[in-house]
Amino acid sequence: MCGIIGYCGPGNTVDILVEALKRMEYRGYDSAGIAVGDYTGTLTVVKRKGKIADLQKVIPSTLNGSYGIGHTRWATHGEVNDINAHPHLNCAGDIAIAHNGIIENYAALKGKLISEGHVFRSETDSEVIAHLVSTFYEGDLELAVKKTIKLLKGTYGIVCIHAKEPNKIVGARNGSPLILGIGNKEMFLASDVTAMIAYTKQVIYLEDGNVVTITPDGYKLTDGTDKILDRKIDYISWELQEIEKDGYTHFMEKEIFEQPESIKRAMQGRIDKEYMTAKFGGLNMTNRELLAVERIKIIAAGTSYHAGLVASYLLESVARIPASAELASELRYRNPIVERNTLYFAVSQSGETADTLYAMRELKRKGARVLGICNVVGSTIPRESDGGIYIHSGPEIAVASTKAFTSQLAVFYLFTLLIARMRDMSYEMGKAFIQHLEELPQLIAKTLQTNSHVKNLAKKYSIYPNFLFLGRGLNYPVALEGALKLKEISYIHAEGYSAAEIKHGPIALINENTPSVFLVPDDMLREKVISNMKEVKARKGKVIALAVEGDEEVARIADDCIFIPSTHELLYPFLMVVPLQLFAYHCALELGHNVDQPRNLAKSVTVE
Ligand code: AGP
Repeated sequence: MCGIIGYCGPGNTVDILVEALKRMEYRGYDSAGIAVGDYTGTLTVVKRKGKIADLQKVIPSTLNGSYGIGHTRWATHGEVNDINAHPHLNCAGDIAIAHNGIIENYAALKGKLISEGHVFRSETDSEVIAHLVSTFYEGDLELAVKKTIKLLKGTYGIVCIHAKEPNKIVGARNGSPLILGIGNKEMFLASDVTAMIAYTKQVIYLEDGNVVTITPDGYKLTDGTDKILDRKIDYISWELQEIEKDGYTHFMEKEIFEQPESIKRAMQGRIDKEYMTAKFGGLNMTNRELLAVERIKIIAAGTSYHAGLVASYLLESVARIPASAELASELRYRNPIVERNTLYFAVSQSGETADTLYAMRELKRKGARVLGICNVVGSTIPRESDGGIYIHSGPEIAVASTKAFTSQLAVFYLFTLLIARMRDMSYEMGKAFIQHLEELPQLIAKTLQTNSHVKNLAKKYSIYPNFLFLGRGLNYPVALEGALKLKEISYIHAEGYSAAEIKHGPIALINENTPSVFLVPDDMLREKVISNMKEVKARKGKVIALAVEGDEEVARIADDCIFIPSTHELLYPFLMVVPLQLFAYHCALELGHNVDQPRNLAKSVTVE
């Protein structure tokens, strides 16, 4: 949610800032801006409502400099317009800041600053930072920033420059990510590694309370006081081509089609064929500790929550351990009871989702053991958790999460195998479970062949304003996910329900203008779902069914059918979700929407 960048070095500052903003545009894309400085003590700010491409159009071709900061915005305070876009300046126009986060006490600070004669230009909370830095500035930008952050309540990742201190950028972090990139005679500060991956792979993940000062020659990292920190340099394993479209038209399309590979990566090195179980390097738990676990609780948001719901069903039915999933945002404020021997999982693609992070902190404060299941290495949730599992999907750039979902599932299926094999799953059953898991990449590849059929269905059905997505058992959360995908990128209203639940209310919505998408795997609930389909058909509702190849009975009842390959009944969530992702993608394209950057959304939701 908002991306910030700072660069100092010999490169073309404007180009580097703009390119970094484009790479981080998925974090927020309602407005953007840059502030560039040079040796003469000049600071130039260019900012615009709209996409980075709109900003590029108004950057003078003559603009150059040796250091600068940039920002891509997801508005929290103040409408989306040129003035509220970052960077923000102090009254004299010699200090510029870009901020990601929310300053909760900005109103009080602003009131005080105004009474002291400061003139504010924007409606943002962030502008107070520029004014505060100027009030504390006595020739030392780092010190002024340190004094400023002591007054701030809320979350921030900040980059700040002063015209009188060329080639220097001061950054500070509390609650919003900030990463230091160490290049060859050039330094970066950014919300996200994707902003700097083209230039350096050496990074330091700042922690809350850290303040860093960068110049082309080096950096000084402190804990916010005078104490200098000597932090380990991490290496980014992502390759540049992974954050490019690589021949695909959209990131979402690329990420959907990457799933056979991403799922392989999620499972790689984690299958133990000697004991027919799973192994994980980072759980930080002994088998004895795992055996003592009596209950598993999963917290997450959005798509990650849906993966957690599937996992809770699976853990309970296969590993025979009580398990549940809950929205992190709800858990945090209901004073949850943390029982002994309960293991928690915080699931998050980005590893930065505020709802999940704060709920995790609350659980840890109460003494819970929380493991993270995340994609972005070095992000906050894995760093603050007691251990965990990376899903290794590779960068997920499209706002709509796709490959992260199936990789989260893959990791949970392996974890289920581990727990089940410690309890009552036999060696032979473990072997069969592994065999089925290993077939998944190929089955997903086959499912992806439904693409052109799904595209035709999107042409036919994207005219409808409302949809129901219906599934049962393990596929009920997949129905929720299908509905979420459709609404978030095509803006078509969609609801996910248990197919059994429609008779308790939603069936009132059924008519010829409300199609239902039924998930009908070949499992023990198939007959019941077929009955629900018939109930919808009897009320003139149109039915699109996802059924297993050869299921002619379902094909006869449905208006349209998408066939997926046959697999073990536990594995259908992996295959069912793929056509739903494609359906949402093609509906959004049919309706002319920006599939990668849907309106009002951002990839990494770092505000509550
Ligand atoms: C999914 O398509 C969404 N964009 C969103 O629901 C997302 O899954 C949610 O914000 C959680 O994100 P996380 O996995 O990074 O924590």
